[in-house]
Amino acid sequence: MTCDKTPQKITKIFDEISGYYDKMNNFISLGTHYFIKKIALKSLKIKQNSYILDICCGTGDFTQIIDKIEPRAKVIGLDNSVEMLKLAKQKNPQKVFMQGDCTELKFKDNEFDYVTVGFGLRNVENRYKAISEIYRTLKTGGKFIHLDFGKHGFGGKIFDIIVLFAINTVGRCCKADNYKYLIRSKNEYPEPQELIKEFETHGFKLVKRRDFLFGAVSYQILEK
Ligand SMILES: C[S@@+](CC[C@H](N)C(=O)[O-])C[C@H]1O[C@@H](n2cnc3c(N)ncnc32)[C@H](O)[C@@H]1O
Repeated sequence: MTCDKTPQKITKIFDEISGYYDKMNNFISLGTHYFIKKIALKSLKIKQNSYILDICCGTGDFTQIIDKIEPRAKVIGLDNSVEMLKLAKQKNPQKVFMQGDCTELKFKDNEFDYVTVGFGLRNVENRYKAISEIYRTLKTGGKFIHLDFGKHGFGGKIFDIIVLFAINTVGRCCKADNYKYLIRSKNEYPEPQELIKEFETHGFKLVKRRDFLFGAVSYQILEK
């Protein structure tokens, strides 16, 4: 059975887990997720005063990291979940966040220098529409970074075991089904090689790819 990814269902999941999202991320990634996000965003080599859209921004990790790397950049964080956005704003009080669906961006064509997405596209029902919107709103020569789970091999299996352990121990307080969704969505998500083809079909050109944790996590940088 494939995951139900209707926006209502996904928003409900993230609204419900928002309170422990950051803590669970630290636990299930054994503290690595923030460093990987930092390495990925640093590799974008963000230019001064650039305009950045972070879709599926969640609790605002990307915004926080971008602010440390290039404080003169203007970042907008966008997410469907109001509860996740509240936490993003608490972590980044000076920054701009808005509620919205990444498959229907309310921005003009060619507006952003960079569009970023971390562990987000995997949750979007109509991924093709989201990729089209990313392409449309990026300037020509602008860059898109996609960070998410990668290959379904050894590293991915270890991650599944850690998540199941987390659900049964520290995660008892969480709704276990929401974290079981995480495992299912990860295992159904195309591997990076396949995703790169999807991005290229939309007109993107691959600039860089880097894998972490035996390929379990991967980022790709693409240019419009
Ligand atoms: C796993 S979290 C990732 C959060 C953050 N980027 C990070 O790396 O920690 C996925 C986020 O995507 C958001 N999301 C899912 N589908 C969305 C959509 N269609 N439009 C906007 N946000 C969406 C969820 O509400 C959730 O906050």
